[in-house]
Amino acid sequence: MKLEGGLKGAVDVHTHILPGMDDGAQSIEDARAMARTAEESGTQVIVATPHVDFAGAKQARAAEIVRSSADALQSALASWGLSIRILPGMEIAIDPHLLDLLRNGEALTIGDTGKFILVELPFQQVPAYTESVVFSLSSAGYIPVIAHPERCVEIEREPNLMYQLVRAGAIGQVNAGSLTGAFGRSTRRVAEALLRYRLAHVIASDGHSPTSRPCRLDQAFHTALQVMGRDAALRAVRDIPGAIVRGETVRLEDPERHVSRRWFMFWSVGGHR
Ligand SMILES: [Fe+2]
Repeated sequence: MKLEGGLKGAVDVHTHILPGMDDGAQSIEDARAMARTAEESGTQVIVATPHVDFAGAKQARAAEIVRSSADALQSALASWGLSIRILPGMEIAIDPHLLDLLRNGEALTIGDTGKFILVELPFQQVPAYTESVVFSLSSAGYIPVIAHPERCVEIEREPNLMYQLVRAGAIGQVNAGSLTGAFGRSTRRVAEALLRYRLAHVIASDGHSPTSRPCRLDQAFHTALQVMGRDAALRAVRDIPGAIVRGETVRLEDPERHVSRRWFMFWSVGGHR
């Protein structure tokens, strides 16, 4: 199934396009190439979300640095004739003090609207305090967006950990590369299941470079068409991330609990006995 005329108006809420800030773009040429790929593949708005870990070194000026770097990149891209829009943000390592960091202005929300915050979990496990952080953020009017849950080993084993987090007020964001198989079959299966069970709602590139992890959503969008149908796939790459960068309320259907294929097989074999 192909969208007539290709993907248009997509909004990418997770990228590492700011040059020299982290393990993403290493130069302004990298950033330019990443932005060009994004624009040519149907993305209209990019949120620059460099990694920030507030538990590490002092990050007091991080928000200010990201804002001015995003502005500088926007001006450079415009001078090169690119019309794509760059907004500031952060990908923040989960932290028990996240609410305080937001309230005192150290942590930056997606697009700097004061509403949605991109949160990264450790790759191995979901810290025990995660659900209470999600709950305290959502009680205070913030909405945590969990970055690439399909890449967390513990969620890959038990996707229903996302059910708990979504019920507590989180939104899930899967990586475009996970859907196109860049991280292997198992990660792809989990990413598809998270979208299908409404345990994840947004697809973003998590773009790091012009080549190995580009800023593009069109290929993942075509996978999503098969997994969730056209309307839901468009919501995942355009409508929900569009509402996120505008700081608008996002209405989501209730999640379902993930049912493992192994259990399906077990019960259906049992049922024929
Ligand atoms: Fe990232």
